Formats: sequence, C-alpha cells, structure tokens
Amino acid sequence: MSLFPEPFKIKVVEPIRLIGKKEREEELEKAGYNLFAIDADKIFIDFLTDSGTSAMSDRQWGALMTGDESYAGCRSFRNLEKSIKDIFGFNFFIPTHQGRAAEDVLFSNLVKPGNYVPNNTHFDTTRANVEANGGNAVDLVIDEARVIDSDYPFKGNMDTKKLENFIKSVGPENIPVGMTTITNNSMGGQPVSMKNIRQTSGIYKKYNIPFFIDACRYAENSYFIKIREEGYSNRSVKEIAREIFSCADGCTMSAKKDGLVNMGGFLAMNREDFFEKFKQKLILTEGFPTYGGLSGRDLEAVAVGLQEGLDEDYLRYRIAHTKYLADRLEEEGVPIIKPAGGHGVYVDARGFMDHIPPDQLPGQSLAVALYLEGGIRTSEIGSVMFAKKDENGNLIPSDLDLVRLAIPRRVYTLSHLDYVAKVFRKVRENKEKYQGLKFTYMPSALRHFTARFGRVKPVAAKA
Ligand SMILES: Cc1ncc(COP(=O)(O)O)c(C=O)c1O
Repeated sequence: MSLFPEPFKIKVVEPIRLIGKKEREEELEKAGYNLFAIDADKIFIDFLTDSGTSAMSDRQWGALMTGDESYAGCRSFRNLEKSIKDIFGFNFFIPTHQGRAAEDVLFSNLVKPGNYVPNNTHFDTTRANVEANGGNAVDLVIDEARVIDSDYPFKGNMDTKKLENFIKSVGPENIPVGMTTITNNSMGGQPVSMKNIRQTSGIYKKYNIPFFIDACRYAENSYFIKIREEGYSNRSVKEIAREIFSCADGCTMSAKKDGLVNMGGFLAMNREDFFEKFKQKLILTEGFPTYGGLSGRDLEAVAVGLQEGLDEDYLRYRIAHTKYLADRLEEEGVPIIKPAGGHGVYVDARGFMDHIPPDQLPGQSLAVALYLEGGIRTSEIGSVMFAKKDENGNLIPSDLDLVRLAIPRRVYTLSHLDYVAKVFRKVRENKEKYQGLKFTYMPSALRHFTARFGRVKPVAAKA
C-alpha cells in the first residue's frame, strides 16, 4: 500500500509544546506513573486514544451551527436518523452520549446474572458493562490473533468453531446476546472479514441469539475488507458497510471513532420490542429518545461525520498513515503486532523491553519511557489491564504486554510520526536504564484509568 497524502488542508491549528525532561519526570512522579493522570498540556504527542480526538471538518463545524436544540423531535435527530439508516440500515436507533452508554442500555436490559456474552474480543468497557450486570464476557478470537508477527489479513476474526462449541456447552438460553467487534481493538485494531461476520451471524441465528456488532471502527474495517478480501475490491466502502450490518440484529456505536466526532454514540436495532425496552432505560439515564445524551448540534456533527468516515480517499490516507508509523517503527527494530491495525500500532512491549520480567509491567514501563524521552502519551494494553492474581496475591501476567499508539484521525502529520519513531530509537538506546514497575494502588475495575505505580528497584537483570 503506497503512501497517500492527506486529502485535506489544515485550516485551524492548535499549538502543542514539548516541556523539559525534568518537568516530565516530575509530572510522572505526581501521576503515580499513570499517563491518564497527566494533564494534556504536558503532553507533546498524544496517542492515548483515537476516541473523541478526531479533527472535525469544516462541514461538521458548519453543521454544528444548524443544530436544533428542541427537547423532543428535533430536526437534528431526523438528520442523524437519515445518515444512520443510509449506512447501517437498522429500523430503530437511540442516540447515547458515547459507546459505553449504548452498552449499558443493551446489557442492563438483556443480561441476567450468570449469563454469557461471546465476542471476538470484548473492549474493556464492553466487558465491564457485561460484568456489571452479573454476566460473563467471553472472548473467542482466532488463535492467530495472538501470533504477534503473523501477517494473517483478518486477525480480528471470531473463532467460529469455538463459538459454536461454546454455545452448545453453556446452552443458547444462557446467551441473551452475541457480539463481534469491528475492528478488534483489544487485539491490535485488526479487522474482521466479511466471511467471518457472515459465519458468526449464521451461528447466532441458528441458536436464535440476537447478534449485535460493536461498530466503533466500521469504516476502517469495511476498507480493510475492500483491500484484503477477495471479491470486494470493486465494491464501495459504503456498500461493504451495509452488507456487514445486514448480517446483524443491531449495533452499539461509539461515534468518537469512525464517526469523526468528539462526543456521541448510538444503539441501533431491528427489533421493535428491544427498542421499546431500551427507550425506557435511555430516558432514565441519557435523556429523551430523540436526543439521548447529546445536544442537537452534536447529533448534526455525527450525521455528517458518519458519512465522511466512509470517504474512500480519507480511508486510503488513514490506513496508509497508520502503516507508515508501523514501518518506521520496524525500521527502528521495534517489534509490533503485524500487520498494522486500522487506528493504531501496537508494540510488543514484552519483546522490546526484554530486560523487564512480565510481572514487572514491561508495557507500562515502556509507556513511561516514551513520555520521559519524548513527551509521547500511549496506553498499555497488557497486565495493567488484564493480569489476575494468584491465591498469594502475586500477579499472573496477561498473555501479551502491548503498548498501543492510537492515532487520532486527521490530527497528526507524517513528521509527527517520524518524531515518534526517533523517540523509540532513544528508548531503545537507553533501555537498560528503564526499570520495571509495580502497582501501588490497584482499583477493582477498569484499573488502568486510575491505578498508581512505583518503580521496582533495583533495575531488573536482563532475562
Ligand atoms: C471497540 C470499542 N467498543 C466500545 C468502546 C467504548 O466507547 P466510548 O469510549 O465512546 O464509551 C470503545 C472505546 O474505545 C471501543 O474501542
């Protein structure tokens, strides 16, 4: 895939500043080595998330001015309805303030204690919302997803054999809803093939289990299908998206990703009985069903953003941009999950920081090193998020320790990406000076957001 230049010009800029190294060190200490606790103006390049961090277009900013702020039945709701119908095709939808609110409405209505919800891989808020209702969130991604340097084109796929066996083992009556997540964020932003979505849908249908897609990155996933799956190269990305959603009974959506907005989401579905139930919960927690948790202007920005997210020049640039960073990191000898994902590059921190044992959080240590060397903020996806404890309270490390470089949409240029690669070089050259970390505070749920850490001393010996 050759590099495709940004199909936009920059009209508004926001200054960023690299603060001094000593100040970065102080910030880290104050934050308990948790990058979520550092103020954004102390960050130079912010790769913490691609969620809600997109640059909106002039058309989106223009649409904000046309927002209808009526409490009920606002015009902006109808505009969003048109846009959603055009792409997703579901009969009903309710706006929510973001993706996890849609998950809350879905799971609090459907999941009872002891139930199971299968997924290729649950994102952390999805898992937490299933568990908050007493359910068990079960990940059934293909084994290939865990082979870091495998170039398999659809490493986000559901293992459909495992799925069917799982349904048989727990009984379909204990599975109120089945999911698949596109792209598979927790597994490297890897796409799911159309064939796999069809097979997954067929299995859920066979057992009469409603199938909802976690659709956050539907446009990137659709584009990957176009360029990687046989038979799709001549189809438009929008047609591919429509085909994906025609396989499902509904979707949860955080519009903060491929909807190209800073806030917004929705829950869409075909079943009227679900719609009636979900509306009641929405009114309780988000607001009247024609605005959900959003203002009229937000609804307008989502309506435009959903369509812009499917623009094929934009997607060509977006996927090539992410791959550019992956290639630059590989040139610097950084092990990454291959092939590059849609919204970010995932570094194998356990491989890169091979002098730090897995129970000393090599992913978090790398994230800290990147901030210290270059003011870059990334997120750990590894033991900080997923490790369990044994009966003696010792950490059982997760399967992988990754650091995610999530790239905000339409925000950073290639020279920012070159800078990031250079900072990795610096970390590599000095890596022995970076030690492992240990938890000093471990919250019980979604712990990466608020955990605190301390340095492990002395510096760990090379494994
Ligand atoms: C796959 C996936 N599902 C759900 C969510 C939750 O969306 P939100 O952050 O808008 O609540 C995210 C957010 O990153 C995600 O990546």
